[in-house]
Amino acid sequence: MHPTLTIAVKAARRAGTVINRASMQLDILTVQTKSPNDFVTEVDQAAEAAIIEVLRDAYPEHGILAEESGESAESANSEYQWIIDPLDGTTNFIHGFPQYAISIALAKNGVLEQAVVYDPTRNELFTATKGRGAFLNDRRIRVSKRTRLNDALIGTGFPYREFDNIDAYLGMFKDLTQKTAGIRRPGAAALDLSYVACGRLDGFWEMGLQPWDMAAGVLMIQEAGGLVSDLAGEAAYMETGNVVAGTPKVFGQLLQVIQPHRTASTRA
Ligand code: IPD
Ligand code: CA
Ligand code: CA
Ligand code: CA
Repeated sequence: MHPTLTIAVKAARRAGTVINRASMQLDILTVQTKSPNDFVTEVDQAAEAAIIEVLRDAYPEHGILAEESGESAESANSEYQWIIDPLDGTTNFIHGFPQYAISIALAKNGVLEQAVVYDPTRNELFTATKGRGAFLNDRRIRVSKRTRLNDALIGTGFPYREFDNIDAYLGMFKDLTQKTAGIRRPGAAALDLSYVACGRLDGFWEMGLQPWDMAAGVLMIQEAGGLVSDLAGEAAYMETGNVVAGTPKVFGQLLQVIQPHRTASTRA
């Protein structure tokens, strides 16, 4: 394992311990609302602090972009940047719905190189290194062999943050309910993407994501043989927050159903 990935795994497991401990005392959790449907707890913050402590200790000169504390001063000058979601699926966590994860990615000059997504509830560790494949707990993973959208199980998330997009989204959703085997909204984008990487889902789409929701999951899918794009079929997913992903065959069919529903606000 590349030394940076070893450090990222250590950081993710530390955060996992913080989150698992807190999950046994949900009744004393303080929840703050950042914006409608976007919550933060002291657990998100403690998990983020634990991750940053491990990364800073090993790589003090690296830049950091983290959901709860923003971009570090080093980010401007460093060729390396860590992209961190300390608790992806906060709403699930608050409700004791066991589908949430820690997501950590490392980019070099904007290119994703290392990825970790850790599900502390199931002790499932997803990792990927650019050019070296993707793994689930040391087992090599690949996207599913499904080729037809009709047979595909597709993951998604709702665009509540960018409500302008809701009509376009609902158009996609309506079409896809009729053209797929099923649609799931598990509630943690980093895990949804990792599930595409290991074949539990055959495709995924969401609008209005943040870089920390998808950085690690995107590399995971690419290293597992899947395809990822924005709604236009291009590579601007990190910039636009709109992402479509899937097995090589399902991806194209998914994009074909989604594209006619793009509007001025979703166009990217
Ligand atoms: C959220 C989850 C969710 C997605 C939201 C994200 P958070 O992340 O990934 O699945 O639909 O757009 O904000 O806020 O729980 O880290
Ligand atoms: Ca959040
Ligand atoms: Ca997130
Ligand atoms: Ca989060």
